[in-house]
Amino acid sequence: MKLLVIGSGGREHALAWKLAQSPRVSRVFVAPGNAGTAREDGLANVAHAAIPELVEFARKEAVAFTVVGPEAPLAEGVVDAFQAAGLRIFGPTRAAAQLECSKEFAKRFETRHGIPTAAYAAFSEAAPAHDYLDQHGAPVVIKADGLAAGKGVVVALDASQAHAAVDMMLTERKMGAAGSRVVIEQYLDGEEASFIVLSDGRHALALATSQDHKRLLDGDRGPNTGGMGAYSPAPVVTPGIHAKIMREVIQPALAGMDKDGTPYVGFLYAGLMITRDGQLKVLEFNCRMGDPETQPTLLRLKSDFVTLIEHALAGSLDQVEAEWDTRVALGVVLAAHGYPDAPRKGDVIRGLPEPEEDSHVFHAGTALNGKDIITNGGRVLTVTALGLNVRAAQRRAYEIAERIRFEGMQFRRDIGHRATAGGRR
Ligand code: AMP
Ligand code: GLY
Repeated sequence: MKLLVIGSGGREHALAWKLAQSPRVSRVFVAPGNAGTAREDGLANVAHAAIPELVEFARKEAVAFTVVGPEAPLAEGVVDAFQAAGLRIFGPTRAAAQLECSKEFAKRFETRHGIPTAAYAAFSEAAPAHDYLDQHGAPVVIKADGLAAGKGVVVALDASQAHAAVDMMLTERKMGAAGSRVVIEQYLDGEEASFIVLSDGRHALALATSQDHKRLLDGDRGPNTGGMGAYSPAPVVTPGIHAKIMREVIQPALAGMDKDGTPYVGFLYAGLMITRDGQLKVLEFNCRMGDPETQPTLLRLKSDFVTLIEHALAGSLDQVEAEWDTRVALGVVLAAHGYPDAPRKGDVIRGLPEPEEDSHVFHAGTALNGKDIITNGGRVLTVTALGLNVRAAQRRAYEIAERIRFEGMQFRRDIGHRATAGGRR
């Protein structure tokens, strides 16, 4: 069978690579893909196209089903368009994708369905937002309501930063329409984890847990990014916490979406804060897999991914289980010069290794330029490796990362630090 993956990042390279391993798959198209998906066995890139062209392409090629990587096409209604054409596609409809596309929608949804989340208020005008900050003090978190590619959240440690963030979004309109409404949220302290499930609308199949590293610099300093590295599993999600997340977050979310008339089919990603006393709060829902969480997570998946998604499309996820490599997988993002503010494109990448049983370099912002592979975006590669524990996976990933070279390459040297510092693995 032929499949289609929509997107061009490291997440999509990993999704397509894993789907192509199924013995039933002859080819996975990636639209538009990157240099990695262009060169990978079993994958083929499709030129960037608008939704109607993608529908036409899937029909013409008799694609068995399509998987959507990023949130933007979901927000645009790609699932609705494919379904209207009678084509199978895995992802939430535009209405269900509101869970990620509007922070306020998500907060209201969580409150309505008793899903634990930080206290908040939402504003379109600067003056009442400033008054609210005066009453509540800092630390506090200011979030643009709309999609902002990971840049719409300001964790303000003092009142002046908080007021500046409100002015930046509501007065100076620096985030455009995404920031024309803001959510101001109670600051939460604890350890974060990414919890991602496949949902068929009623049942959820949890994928292996993972932890992202959102800040640019070692020691969780510097600006927020889309994510500089991740590893799986996340030791903070003990079996007890896992059961609690399913009970308090995932099941009520799926039941709530169904009750609200927008049943949720697709990957559902809960970004969670787990406090020291084991309480959970939802920081965000995403209507897709995480990037870079997908890369280490799928490196550990032993089951046939095509079969899992087919069960999700058929509404029978309760009849299947996923099998995971017991090793730890860890992915280090190699980012371009100037990332995240102004990533430079066009630097030649050298030293890329061949894939091995225990490692894979997933491409994101890369392109082919004659015989060269060049940088073509902010996050360029995710070097992902398996090891018997976090330290071993770290050693392997960094050994490979050190051999890859491009002008201005940036990466964190401490991916996995929470797991190794805690000594839990
Ligand atoms: P979000 O896009 O809402 O997940 O926020 C991006 C990042 O901001 C999260 O991964 C956290 O590191 C941080 N963050 C978001 N909300 C809070 C909160 N209420 N308290 C502390 N940190 C937060
Ligand atoms: N790595 C965070 C995200 O994908 O939202």
